[in-house]
Amino acid sequence: MLTRRLFIAGLAASFTTEPRKLFAKEEADFDDNLLVFLSDVHAGAAKTCKYARKKLQEAVTEILKMRPLPRRVLVFGDVAHVYGLGVDYDVSRPSFKLLEDAGITVTVGMGNHDRRSEFAIRWPEAQKKSLVPGRFVHLVETSHVGFLMLDSLQGTDDRAQNDFGPVPGALSDDQQVFLSDFLSKRTKPVILCAHHAPKELSLCGKPLPHVVVTTPCIAGYIHGHNHRWMRAWIRDKDQKTPERAKHVLCLPSNGLWGDIGYATCRVSPGKVEVAPALKDFWLSRPVSAECRPPEWDDILAEGRASGPCTFRF
Ligand SMILES: [Fe+2]
Repeated sequence: MLTRRLFIAGLAASFTTEPRKLFAKEEADFDDNLLVFLSDVHAGAAKTCKYARKKLQEAVTEILKMRPLPRRVLVFGDVAHVYGLGVDYDVSRPSFKLLEDAGITVTVGMGNHDRRSEFAIRWPEAQKKSLVPGRFVHLVETSHVGFLMLDSLQGTDDRAQNDFGPVPGALSDDQQVFLSDFLSKRTKPVILCAHHAPKELSLCGKPLPHVVVTTPCIAGYIHGHNHRWMRAWIRDKDQKTPERAKHVLCLPSNGLWGDIGYATCRVSPGKVEVAPALKDFWLSRPVSAECRPPEWDDILAEGRASGPCTFRF
């Protein structure tokens, strides 16, 4: 575990529409095998995004208070509210910068509500470091396993400003060539990550779930998009005995309908455990306590009680 001492300067002017919150200065250690996963942030400048902005601010506050601090934060797409507007990224960028200023590496994937050109203006380093030109593809390595963040946003930037483009995901042809080559050379375990579920994607004519279960170096798959803390086992029925199964995990949304929250990820020899940090559950819109359907609390309690999702390798 790499240890580094630093001062956390504080949660400075993050959102112009939100009150300032300041951290006390204190020293902290990092844990290279601790990560935090955010997805479907949907923060924007519109009045209707007040809840999503607040939830992003709260998540950043909680991450910066973790001891040890996670070395990395991965964001599984849909950072922008709906249309991938520049003003939406302007709103959320300062919050992510607080994490970066604290020494945490932030890696962002693209969701169907994102727009690469507007994102790239606010995140130029991400564009420079992408493994596939024109897409946002990044490999996040830890000591025992890597996390390959793919870019499953099918929409292109030549769409109208108020057009969020296709909802389903896809991997571009050049990204498929990259991924095939990457997997053919990879021996260290890797977890594939993207905004969309694997069943929406394919690789060189093969359904991605088939690729996940039949490729030895792939330990599993993590995605967003569905705004639920959900896991499934996928298996390869043609595999020789013993038949192996691999986990596919869907992350909650950090701030827009469904399971609300984030997840922490603990990497250790032979396994990865991803645990939910669920804050709320709602459909349609947050409502007052008096008219909140009772089953929403049941769903939240079930999610919180579900325990970590384990990936073996
Ligand atoms: Fe979303």
